[in-house]
Amino acid sequence: MAKYNFDKIVNRKGTDCIKWDATPLIWGKKNLLPMWIADMDFPTPKFFTDAIIAKIKDGVIGYGCSKPQKWYDAVIYWFNERYGWKLKKEDIGFVPGIVVGIAHALRCFTKPGDKVLIFPPVYPPFKAKVDSYGTKLVNCPLDIVEKKNGEIDFEINWEDLAKKIKGCKAMILCNPHNPGGRVWSRSELKKIAELCLKNKVFVISDEIHCDLSFEKHIPFATVNAKQAENTITFHAPSKTFNCAGVGASEWVATGKATREKFAAYMEGGDYDFGHYDSFMPAEYLYTPKGYEWLKQALEYIKGNIDYVEKFLKENFTVPAIKMTGKVVRSQSVEYAEAAIEETQLIRMIKPKASFLIFVDFRPLGLSCSELSDLLVNKAHLALNEGCSFGQGGECFMRLNVGCPRKVLEKAMNQLKYAFDKKYKLK
Ligand SMILES: Cc1ncc(COP(=O)(O)O)c(C=O)c1O
Repeated sequence: MAKYNFDKIVNRKGTDCIKWDATPLIWGKKNLLPMWIADMDFPTPKFFTDAIIAKIKDGVIGYGCSKPQKWYDAVIYWFNERYGWKLKKEDIGFVPGIVVGIAHALRCFTKPGDKVLIFPPVYPPFKAKVDSYGTKLVNCPLDIVEKKNGEIDFEINWEDLAKKIKGCKAMILCNPHNPGGRVWSRSELKKIAELCLKNKVFVISDEIHCDLSFEKHIPFATVNAKQAENTITFHAPSKTFNCAGVGASEWVATGKATREKFAAYMEGGDYDFGHYDSFMPAEYLYTPKGYEWLKQALEYIKGNIDYVEKFLKENFTVPAIKMTGKVVRSQSVEYAEAAIEETQLIRMIKPKASFLIFVDFRPLGLSCSELSDLLVNKAHLALNEGCSFGQGGECFMRLNVGCPRKVLEKAMNQLKYAFDKKYKLK
């Protein structure tokens, strides 16, 4: 069995990749370590890049076959192997990217003025696509809850959802959720499905991060036969196998009316026409070999997540004075009692899927611009700002840990140096 090397540092600079080459332009600074956007710095599986090289070497880059049978076979195999979801050829279609797919689904299943519900903080293009089409955004912000085991996580505010879903035409669900890596449970998805059915809400389920789940992923459309009629799911090899640049994704709709409507829309506009290499990721990566690479990648990513969790605990936990709520009396004077407790000033939502950590800087009590200053000007790091994900993301930053451990260690040490300097701890 091949052993893949995720420690290998690949120099991506000068390859026209957005993460490394656009960072100086976006932030207006040259010395930032890019830990943002959502592709990984690991080499794309070589057995796939070799296949692309072999195909174009001495070849002719003419029209490719659109949606060859082997592409359908690979997608059907993958969904069945990974999720026990048995699909037929007609349930599947091609779309060059998931954001493109969401934009098309909005155009096919809603009309301008219709209300579309999302759960912020969430992947920013959801809002952008709703706004640009002229549909009306309905925000149903996730709650951030402190759990008994000391962790924090996102939860759906069911009361708010039951109110806000009324009158909506569609919902864009992020399953698993980005940011935060929340893997929705079967019972949560069932509850969402029941509310959607009751209120006749069409669901666009973005499942791009599902192959990277550390917990069991449940495809939304499978939780309820009726809801399956009313759902379109988007999935891709892009995040899973770090090949986002190829532009290859799939839509899945098992409901007859839904799939026929979307297929006719996509074919009508020739939107389902992939380029020369678009069908190759599925063919080479939705395979046992691809799964072996994925298992090793997930193990490495999990190690990176654990490393960050430990680093934050060890380096940003400080003694803090907390009021106990009691009053003590001494020599006829009453004092409010205080105790010294440990407080973690930078903590995280531990992702249950994917390579993106939503880091919580709220305990520092900084404004968003002060936090940006700390990260960019003092720590020299480029992360995605939490507020760009919408309501509830304020004073969080999204950290991409899909990189060799050495790069991550460098980033975390830069953060610690800036923090120690700001708070004069060293
Ligand atoms: C939830 C989610 N959907 C979609 C995308 C992008 O997909 P695509 O590049 O296929 O448009 C991302 C990328 O980060 C994402 O996190």
